[in-house]
Amino acid sequence: MNNRSISYLFPLLVCILIGQFLSGQPKLGDSPAGSRSPAVHRIKLMDHDSSAIRLFKTPLLPFSTETTCGSCHDYNVISSGWHFNAGSETKPGRNGQPWIYSDPNTLTQIPLSYRDWKGVINPEDIGMSVFEFVKTFGRHHPGGSVGEQEDRWQSENAFRWNVSGNVDVNCLVCHDVNPANDRSHYAKQLQKENFRWAAASTASIADVSGSAKDMPDHYDIYYGLAPDESKAIPPQVKYDKIAFNEKDEVFFDVTRNIPNENCYFCHSTMVVDNERTEFWQHGQDVHLQRGMNCVDCHRNGLDHQIIRGYENESVEKKSPELADFTCAGCHASNEYGLSVSHNNKGPIPEHKGLPPLHFDKFSCTTCHSGEMVKEKSFLTKTSMGHGLGTHGINKADSTLPHIITPIFEEDETGKIIPVNMVWPSYWGWKNGDNISPMNKDSYTSIVKSVLSEMPINLNGSWPNIDEEMINNILISLVSQEIESTPVFVSGGKVYFTESGILKDEAHSQAKAYTWPIGHNVRPATMALGSGGCNDCHRLDSPFYTSSITVDSPFKTDDVIMIEFQSQNLFSAQVFANAFVFRPWLKGVIYFSVFIVASLVILFFFNGLQCWIGDKNAE
Ligand code: HEC
Ligand code: HEC
Ligand code: HEC
Ligand code: HEC
Ligand code: HEC
Ligand code: HEC
Ligand code: HEC
Repeated sequence: MNNRSISYLFPLLVCILIGQFLSGQPKLGDSPAGSRSPAVHRIKLMDHDSSAIRLFKTPLLPFSTETTCGSCHDYNVISSGWHFNAGSETKPGRNGQPWIYSDPNTLTQIPLSYRDWKGVINPEDIGMSVFEFVKTFGRHHPGGSVGEQEDRWQSENAFRWNVSGNVDVNCLVCHDVNPANDRSHYAKQLQKENFRWAAASTASIADVSGSAKDMPDHYDIYYGLAPDESKAIPPQVKYDKIAFNEKDEVFFDVTRNIPNENCYFCHSTMVVDNERTEFWQHGQDVHLQRGMNCVDCHRNGLDHQIIRGYENESVEKKSPELADFTCAGCHASNEYGLSVSHNNKGPIPEHKGLPPLHFDKFSCTTCHSGEMVKEKSFLTKTSMGHGLGTHGINKADSTLPHIITPIFEEDETGKIIPVNMVWPSYWGWKNGDNISPMNKDSYTSIVKSVLSEMPINLNGSWPNIDEEMINNILISLVSQEIESTPVFVSGGKVYFTESGILKDEAHSQAKAYTWPIGHNVRPATMALGSGGCNDCHRLDSPFYTSSITVDSPFKTDDVIMIEFQSQNLFSAQVFANAFVFRPWLKGVIYFSVFIVASLVILFFFNGLQCWIGDKNAE
């Protein structure tokens, strides 16, 4: 090696070392210094290539949260958090709410997730690409995840990704408290495939127009012009000039104390109840009503591993401090009678007269959370499921997907917990005992042509079909594959055609998908049992007998609640009878005590009389 190459190598080595040193250092905003006064964010905007956005540049590019916020906060650490890691994390923990792909015209309703929860289907398995997933469900996803993890050049949509760009973690959807941040714009931009413009479009300082979807595969965003022959408008952003100061800095109103409304954009629920048709008749969680916030319980550090709050989480994640953020963690006393890691300890319940067995048999949420159980289950609508808060959605009560609530189901540990439920409905191929869903593009035309005579339901619910139609569709599908049998999974059953006749059988893969209900916590006066033990222990208690809809485009019979528990209705009712006689029993006890007491008094006076008599005789 000669001197000259060393003189080149030396600065290179120094650069690498400095680079290593800098990357190992926490970034400016990473570790809070301890001030409770928020840091003022007057910052430079960066585009996805990390060059600063200046108003005179053309074309103007949207700012990227990865490079803008990432210049002072460790983006890689943040984007590994629970909200952003569905495509990469391997320990999915307990079941959560799935994405639900539904289409009444093809009779489908499929719970999807990239997570390994039992009973969900991976979008890939129904032929839904990551690109399509982002377009469809990204509306209520805080960004990151599969939208930036996919190996673009390996994917069938490589060229489209190149035009649309990354789906960065959208820090603003949670942290921006500017009331002009319009979260519904995000959904619109995703539909137009304006992925890299989507987060910026919600900010009050930026205005996005045009559509990446209308641009050809070779479209170059730096060139910024549409191909001559087309009238389509390329995606573009305009910034509010007044918002920029002389140093090209912009003010963001970001905070750690995220207001509930920001979380509600994605976590609202609304039960469909004929007796409560007005919005004001629906309340929120008792904690929020009393002034607590979501982030008082669902917290995280820079890693954004938000606390999910369920009982077993601290064990699964080997972090004992998480136990302080469960229901019992805040409401039961530990060894010292105090929870150590925060100062939000709640009232400690007495639960007078409730045999301890009930705490082994039920979770706290069973008696305290979700809708009050009635004679019949309800449908409920959610942001993730029904696109609440975005434009152009079907507001009808019965629009798909059909999420049924509340169900008291026994989980694998034997506890009875409250859950939401969705019944899968899809076309599949059965091979041996295994059913795999069909690619969603492979059956659409066949199903639609058989159902073409059906009137379209404006309420977005199932059409009224009969068995013959299903049979006809299955017969048309038979010829597509030789080795497997086409089946229709619906309402807990699997339908297939045999010698031209429609048959059905039970199958484990047809079972309903369920996920636990944590909210809303009702006030103590509305807990199950606040009306007395016979809220449950009575013959006709909806706790056992509430009728649960078996949802399907077919007409199906409801089932009763106790079918989802290992209890036996007869013995529960026999036991409940005991509670009918409890007041009597009390009467009998009081009566016996009265008799015994009377006898004692009688004997006492008799004795006394004898004693006085004896004295007198003396
Ligand atoms: C120029 C550097 C810089 C940039 C760029 C930046 N931040 Fe910060 N951020 C900071 C500093 C410094 C703190 C304060 C850390 C502390 O508490 O000591 C902070 C704190 C925060 C906090 C906690 C605020 C609080 O109330 O305690 C949030 C949330 C946050 N930043 C989000 C963002 C988001 C979102 C972006 C992108 C829009 C962003 N930051 C861009 C430097 C920056
Ligand atoms: C899904 C909502 C959500 C999104 C999206 C989100 N955050 Fe957060 N972030 C939170 C929550 C919740 C906390 C914890 C709040 C608390 O402790 O009260 C937090 C805390 C922080 C903190 C303080 C961390 C500390 O050290 O205590 C910073 C800084 C921050 N976020 C920056 C960002 C940046 C930058 C992005 C985008 C890359 C982002 N966040 C995206 C929800 C979110
Ligand atoms: C842009 C939409 C969006 C926003 C805003 C958002 N979330 Fe989420 N949240 C989701 C999605 C989607 C999931 C499911 C994630 C998954 O499975 O991949 C989720 C999951 C969760 C979970 C875990 C639920 C479970 O199954 O245990 C909690 C807790 C949570 N969010 C709390 C919050 C809080 C608190 C805020 C406000 C600081 C918030 N979220 C803001 C979309 C959002
Ligand atoms: C971070 C701590 C915390 C967690 C976690 C928590 N709570 Fe609470 N809870 C409180 C506090 C504090 C109050 C008192 C609010 C007030 O009245 O000011 C409260 C109030 C209540 C009440 C209302 C009592 C009344 O006066 O009507 C009920 C019921 C309740 N909690 C049940 C639950 C259930 C069930 C869970 C689990 C889903 C839970 N809590 C989780 C802190 C917590
Ligand atoms: C079998 C039903 C049932 C179960 C299970 C149950 N509770 Fe309760 N809870 C009640 C009833 C009924 C009340 C109201 C009467 C009372 O205070 O005893 C109540 C009251 C409460 C209160 C209000 C106390 C107050 O003084 O304001 C809190 C907090 C509470 N429960 C938390 C919990 C927690 C935490 C768990 C789980 C460890 C739990 N409950 C399990 C039925 C139940
Ligand atoms: C008082 C504490 C507390 C508050 C406030 C709170 N949560 Fe929760 N949350 C919990 C606990 C505890 C669980 C887990 C309950 C269980 O199943 O044991 C939970 C469960 C959840 C779940 C998963 C189960 C479900 O019902 O879907 C989501 C999502 C969630 N919370 C979001 C939120 C959002 C959004 C807010 C604010 C609007 C919020 N939480 C406010 C304590 C809280
Ligand atoms: C949420 C509904 C619910 C409420 C409220 C409730 N129970 Fe129960 N209870 C049950 C169920 C379910 C079982 C059966 C558990 C089993 O056998 O596995 C049970 C079992 C029992 C048992 C039998 C215990 C045993 O060893 O087999 C007694 C005694 C009892 N409850 C008394 C009460 C009293 C007293 C109250 C009111 C203070 C009450 N329960 C409130 C649901 C409830």
